[in-house]
Amino acid sequence: MFSTTAQRSRGDADSPSRRLAFGGDYNPEQWPREVWDEDVRLMLEAGVDLVTVGVFSWAHLEVAPGDYRFDWLDDVLDRLTRAGIGVDLATATASPPPWLTSLHPEILPVTREGTVLWPGGRQAFCPSSPVYREHAVALCRKMAERYAGLDSLRLWHVGNELGCHNALCFCDTSAAAFRGWLRERYGDLDELNRVWGTAFWSQRYTDFEQVLPPRQVTAVPNPTRELDFRRFSSDELLANYVAERDVLRELSPGVPVTTNFMVMQNSKEMDYFRWAEEVDVVSNDHYLMAEDPEGYTELAFSADLTRGVARGRPWLLMETSPGAVNWQPRNIARRPGELLRSAMQHVGRGADGILFFQWRASAAGAEKFHAGLLPHAGTDTRTWRESVELRRVLDAVAEIEGSVARNRVAILFDWHAWWASELDSHPSTDVRYRDVPKVLHRSLTDAGVGVDVVHPDSDLTGYDLVLVPTLYTVTDTAADRLREAVEGGATALVTYFSGIVDEHDHIRLGGYPGAYRDLLGIRVGEFLPLRADEAVELSNGWRGTVWAEDLQLTGAESLATYVDGPAPGVPAVTRHAVGRGSAWYAATRLDRDASDALVARLVEASGVEPLAGVRPGVEVTRRHADDGRSWLFVVNHTDAGVDVEARGLDLVSGRSADGVVTVDAGGVAVVREA
Ligand code: GAL
Repeated sequence: MFSTTAQRSRGDADSPSRRLAFGGDYNPEQWPREVWDEDVRLMLEAGVDLVTVGVFSWAHLEVAPGDYRFDWLDDVLDRLTRAGIGVDLATATASPPPWLTSLHPEILPVTREGTVLWPGGRQAFCPSSPVYREHAVALCRKMAERYAGLDSLRLWHVGNELGCHNALCFCDTSAAAFRGWLRERYGDLDELNRVWGTAFWSQRYTDFEQVLPPRQVTAVPNPTRELDFRRFSSDELLANYVAERDVLRELSPGVPVTTNFMVMQNSKEMDYFRWAEEVDVVSNDHYLMAEDPEGYTELAFSADLTRGVARGRPWLLMETSPGAVNWQPRNIARRPGELLRSAMQHVGRGADGILFFQWRASAAGAEKFHAGLLPHAGTDTRTWRESVELRRVLDAVAEIEGSVARNRVAILFDWHAWWASELDSHPSTDVRYRDVPKVLHRSLTDAGVGVDVVHPDSDLTGYDLVLVPTLYTVTDTAADRLREAVEGGATALVTYFSGIVDEHDHIRLGGYPGAYRDLLGIRVGEFLPLRADEAVELSNGWRGTVWAEDLQLTGAESLATYVDGPAPGVPAVTRHAVGRGSAWYAATRLDRDASDALVARLVEASGVEPLAGVRPGVEVTRRHADDGRSWLFVVNHTDAGVDVEARGLDLVSGRSADGVVTVDAGGVAVVREA
């Protein structure tokens, strides 16, 4: 999809072939022209074939209102084009230049507390600002008019990580836009009052003008307003994207348009399932939290979620770091081989190209200690050598392009549930939305079981096992979908604090968990959250933390009860036979061993086959092509070599696998299966 027809290696001019994209952000405006020659030469040496240009170039492209200077960019793009390097061309609207914010200070974002966020960093604009939008769209139009016919243009890149620093703005412009969004959604004030539950604490509105964004308040703010404000904010940023995209579609038809998502650990702001409907190609940025020696487990989950966002289709890793980043407390360098392992985790989970931030490490500015493919020390560096090796491996496995990873197990994930579940005044602050899905994902991965991460409203009937972790907010559609899957024969696991409220954050009455109560054959009268360091033991030896509850069986059987804690003797893990399937429930946060044990039972009950037998720290994933070919990816994060059952050709080593593929400590294999 993103492959460029380019020479496989220098000097191989007669054998053009398709390649998985490899490259990164290129910021030539930070460097004198002499450096540009070296850039192109070294890009070719490294096998770079796709670069993202112009992300932060606004101030260099439009030096005063309507005064555009494209000559330097023409020069850069011309050099890249002549070298056969593909371009992911940014619309350059990510960060408004100082002249714009000086002329129009009203576009600056304002925090919940009322603090103006001044220019001097980046992305200092209110997502609802019509002034920002007008200037951004005008620049986008100029870019499209000028470069739509560029030979090397592969992709348009709108903005950059929309919402990275300015997702929530509380200024007067945002307030007016929020009111407009609410009018459209709810029609009249009676409905707004009902949905927001304003009968509580004398919050009833009698005029839309009284409605404000959730600025800093005295007590706990209205939760549905908080939730709607998050929905609104995600929609506003998306509208900025759509405004530019529509210009690009008009002036540059046929060239795909993307904007880089941030599906990773803390990225809570955008509803990317919704955003994905508007992009031609899902592209994602992913950065490891280097402090975590097992950060690869988070990467695995995020990459599967990115594929879910892309509705299973191949996607592009738009940014990751070739080494240490600059923005964590301690910017730990990548360990030897980690660059290749991380990249192949993404590819094995559906990425069709690997790009980095950034091509050449900056000499000045806030990111000068952020790694680049080309480090300050030049090419005689480990980062450079490992990047060149990655290019080699991407070429070796290029035939996987366009294939897809799909599995029999699904984890349900929803940004709205994330937003709502972490609002104030809940039973326990220890319920963190991304926590339980990650633990379950890891247990599955450690067992060699492939998993998809999908939206709860998806059709689930193709899945044998469906996991529903802490899905606090559930629509009727989602509840129906799970029931249909179970009745049709699937095994489901629901965990605590799922199915509690509807999409307006109103309790589903009659006993928890309202949305799933009947399906699970249980009824919970009271939540019994645990103290910070408290753990409960279960009758089968498992251990839980965070949560317990007063649960009654109304059809389900108990698989384990609490031995101690606030509800000794009460069922903690249950199973309910429904139709041709069964619905299981876990009413505490199981620790890793217990999660592994429960997942093993669920996998067995659902009849799902592991992709291969592996030990923890060795990841296997599989991609399938329409024509029946398939590839088994093995990524060995451990310090010992491993033999994994496989038959075919390991494209990485070039060796055939006659029953097993041997993967060295820290190594990777991609077996084209016989
Ligand atoms: C991303 C951003 C890049 C760069 C990078 C550093 O969030 O899109 O421009 O700042 O982080 O890790």
